[in-house]
Formats: sequence, structure tokens, C-alpha cells
Amino acid sequence: MRDEYLDPAESVDDAAEGGLRPRTLDEFVGQSELKEHLKIVLEAARGRSQVVDHLLFAGPPGLGKTTLAGIIATECEVELHVTSGPALERAGDLAAILTKLGEGDVLFIDEIHRLSRSVEEILYPAMEDFQIDIVVGKGPAASSIRLTMPPFTLVGATTRTGMITGPLRDRFGYVARLDYYNADELETIVTRAAGILDVGIEADGAREIARRSRGTPRIANRLLRRVRDFAEVRADGVVTSEVAREGLSVFGVDALGLDKVDRALLSALCAQFGGRPVGLSTLAITLGEQPETVEDVHEPFLIQQGLIARTPRGRVAMPSAYAHLGMAVPNDGDPALFD
Ligand SMILES: Nc1ncnc2c1ncn2[C@@H]1O[C@H](COP(=O)(O)OP(=O)(O)OP(=O)(O)O)[C@@H](O)[C@H]1O
Ligand SMILES: [Mg+2]
Repeated sequence: MRDEYLDPAESVDDAAEGGLRPRTLDEFVGQSELKEHLKIVLEAARGRSQVVDHLLFAGPPGLGKTTLAGIIATECEVELHVTSGPALERAGDLAAILTKLGEGDVLFIDEIHRLSRSVEEILYPAMEDFQIDIVVGKGPAASSIRLTMPPFTLVGATTRTGMITGPLRDRFGYVARLDYYNADELETIVTRAAGILDVGIEADGAREIARRSRGTPRIANRLLRRVRDFAEVRADGVVTSEVAREGLSVFGVDALGLDKVDRALLSALCAQFGGRPVGLSTLAITLGEQPETVEDVHEPFLIQQGLIARTPRGRVAMPSAYAHLGMAVPNDGDPALFD
């Protein structure tokens, strides 16, 4: 079913990610509370010989939502069916997938916040009663057909919890929020990935990559691949801390792990707009990015790091952003902006 949904943004690197995905909960690093909860939910369902309740995973990109959906299917020894909110345009698209589900299978809907209203409404009775009513024909000749399906587990993923409607959210038995990973966890992830990719790496090298990965496993794996390239071409192939530092700076990743767009965002707020609050759409145009990309990919980490803040009047840079860019805080540190 994977071929039904191909992410247009998927690159060769993203495809390489597949091999690095943990297959079981025990291989999944970090998120210990979430893992504990999932173990209980899965074991209880197994004990009752019941299908696992519907699960919703929310959090910034690259933290492991898709990976967890695969793990649930593996742990339950059922088939995984993958689709996404934007791919399900009409009610019929969802019906086609639902009728293919086997008993206990996992249906993974990525970007579930982008489901259309009409498809979402079909999903409610499917989640609750494992049946849907499909209208065929138009006008007075229209009739409705009831389709039933075996019990299944819906796993939804979203980068935007705020955009999930209340009724949809309420139909999930468990809603998990994935948090950014700490440096120790990322170091473990980098070391594990290096083992799979057969990259020679020293502990300090793994540490350096972990520190600059913006709390995100996907970025950690990507930086590892770039540092490996650098190590092979400019050094003797082994990732030491020095090789990691040099390699990362060659690829434009700074000490905090910020990339070019992150830094451009900070410098727009600090320099170009002189410290005044800036609206999302203006900021996105300035950066040449989509507002959603700025909001989902770049801002969450900058906010989490205390570099920027969202205010009712717009985005503002915090003093640490100026410090990071080597600039003085304007207005002689007018604290009004930083309340
Ligand atoms: N806890 C983890 N332990 C080890 N590797 C992980 C972990 N979480 C994620 N990864 C790695 O990071 C990559 C990205 O994870 P994944 O695709 O699951 O993120 P996602 O949350 O679905 O992102 P998106 O919102 O962009 O779809 C995976 O290929 C996997 O290799
Ligand atoms: Mg995903």
C-alpha cells in the first residue's frame, strides 16, 4: 500500500531513512514515557485479544511519528496500510482503503489534519463502529450503501495538533505528543545509525553531531550522512569530533544546529525588521519559504530554544538570538518586547 502515497518532498536521503527506522519499541530510542504508555496499551489489547485502540501522534517533523506507526504494526504482527490526509480527496478514496483492511490491521493516515471535511465525517463511524455509509448516485435516485469492515487500528500523525478538529481528536483512545530528543538520546541514535551504515565514528564525533541536530532524529541521521561524506573525501573516513565540527560547518550547520534558513529567519527579525514584531506571512515571503514550512519546520525549535517568541503582534527575536548572531540588542534592551 505504500505506493499509494509518495511524499513529493521525498528525496534519496529520505529513502535512505527507511533502513534506519527502528522496527520495534525496544529499538526506538527516547520518548520513554510515550513508549511505556504504548507498551501498556499494546499488551492490554493483546491480553484481551482485542484490536489496539486508535492512536494519534503529534509533534514537529522528523521525531518518529511514521516510525511509531510501523512499530505498532510490527509489534501487533498485522499489516500496515499507509495513506495521508491530502491523498484522500473524496469519500470513495477512504472507502477503497477501508474495505481492504484485514482484522486488526493498522491504517496510518499521515498529515491527518489535512483531511477534507467530507472524508473526516466518513472516518467517524469507521473509527467508532467499523462501518461507513456511502451515498451512490445523485438526486432522488441516490441511495446509501452500508459497508462494514473488520476492527482496525487507526494511527494518525500530525505536525499541527491545533488543526485537528475536536470530534476527530476525541475519537482517538490515546493522543501522544512527541518531544524533541536530548543530546544523550540523539547520540545513541547517531551511534546506532553509524553502525547500520557502517561508518567509523568516535564517541566525541557522535556527540558533536547529536548536539547540532535540533533535537530531531531525522536531522541527526542526515547530518551523519553528510559528515560521513566529508570524512571520506577530506579525512581518513573516521568521524572524530574535529571531522564532525569541520564537516558540519562546511555544510552550513552552526554550533546550535541552525541551518541557513534558521539563521536567515533570525537575521530578518533582528536586523532587517530592526527587532519589531513580524507577521508570519511577511516573514515567509522574506525567506522565500511557504508559511507552513516556517511554522512547522523552523519555528518550533527556535521557540523551544528561546531564540524567538510568538506574540499577538507577530514574531519577535529574543535577546539570545541577537547574541547568537553577534549583534547588540536594540532599544538598549527595551524589555517591553521581551515580556
Ligand atoms: N526514536 C527514534 N530512534 C531512532 N531513530 C529514530 C527515532 N525516531 C525517528 N528516528 C529516525 O528518524 C527518521 C524520521 O522519523 P519519522 O519519519 O518517523 O518522523 P516523522 O515524525 O514521521 O516526521 P514527519 O512529520 O516529517 O513525517 C526515521 O527514519 C528514523 O530513522
Ligand atoms: Mg512521517
